[in-house]
Amino acid sequence: MGGTLKGKTCVITGATSGIGRAAAVQLGGLGADLILTGRDRRKGADLVRKVRRDPACGSAHFLRADLSIQREVRELAAAIRSRCARVDVLINNAGARFDTFRLTTDTIESTFATNHLSHFLLTLLLLDTLRAAEAARVITVSSGTHGGAIGDFERQLRRENYDRKAAYGNSKLANLMFAYELARRVKGTNITSNAVDPGGVATNLGRNNGIVSWLRHVGYYALKGELLSPEKGAETIVFLASSPAIEGVSGKYYFRKREIESSGISKDEAAAKRLWESSLRMTGLDYLSK
Ligand SMILES: NC(=O)c1ccc[n+]([C@@H]2O[C@H](COP(=O)([O-])OP(=O)(O)OC[C@H]3O[C@@H](n4cnc5c(N)ncnc54)[C@H](OP(=O)(O)O)[C@@H]3O)[C@@H](O)[C@H]2O)c1
Repeated sequence: MGGTLKGKTCVITGATSGIGRAAAVQLGGLGADLILTGRDRRKGADLVRKVRRDPACGSAHFLRADLSIQREVRELAAAIRSRCARVDVLINNAGARFDTFRLTTDTIESTFATNHLSHFLLTLLLLDTLRAAEAARVITVSSGTHGGAIGDFERQLRRENYDRKAAYGNSKLANLMFAYELARRVKGTNITSNAVDPGGVATNLGRNNGIVSWLRHVGYYALKGELLSPEKGAETIVFLASSPAIEGVSGKYYFRKREIESSGISKDEAAAKRLWESSLRMTGLDYLSK
């Protein structure tokens, strides 16, 4: 179902572990030129060595950035822009869960900053390189957990209201609302924007919170018989990045390579517009504002 990606530049955030790492290997196998990003140089170098071993892979480079820090997102965008005249596929995949409230160096709650604001900022800073592609695909990794979120973004950003599940669910809802709103704002251009739920995948997600928290996450899907390998979890991302069947498709949400419905609130256009405006304010940007 995947097409070739020979000659196409694919940027993947969070490529050093789990789903992003598996997606990088699969996209390399389809011939892509890979820009792999993560915050750990050693893991990045290991991955570059691995993908370059596949003779099908175009080229592979690792760029380090901690996406929870806006200065580093800006530096990453600048490094990508200086390296590539165009980006054909941008995969907004990096993500994290935090059991306790934490502020980033920009004094923003860490889950929202890492999962949503980072990708909002990166995508908008890469818009002209996406516009330079013949047909650019932006793929944002959301989650089925968005379904339990009510979109009380401002409330969850405050220490006294912090709820780890709500914070994560809201960040994944924000991913989805961003993907849809971007699709509306770039409609009629060469850029498409879709979102994906990879399913329950055995990765390092949540390991930062300790083994018990991590086992709770993995055990939940394992008990339901739905725990996927990272390779399986990456398949829908790779499908969205490469399949000719997705050409021109935009503003959709995919699970197991099929379009699915997302929650009612994720489709609330006024709420998405408000989230866009507050994300612009929180990142100091003024792009595609209307
Ligand atoms: N696993 C699941 O069941 C599941 C289900 C639904 C959705 N998702 C989503 O899938 C995506 C990938 O997660 P995963 O499950 O593959 O987890 P993972 O194994 O923990 O991988 C997450 C990736 O994001 C990177 N990352 C985290 N915080 C970062 C930061 N501040 N700056 C830069 N990179 C950062 C990690 O870097 P390090 O290698 O340095 O840690 C890693 O490369 C996430 O968006 C997650 O929300 C996962």
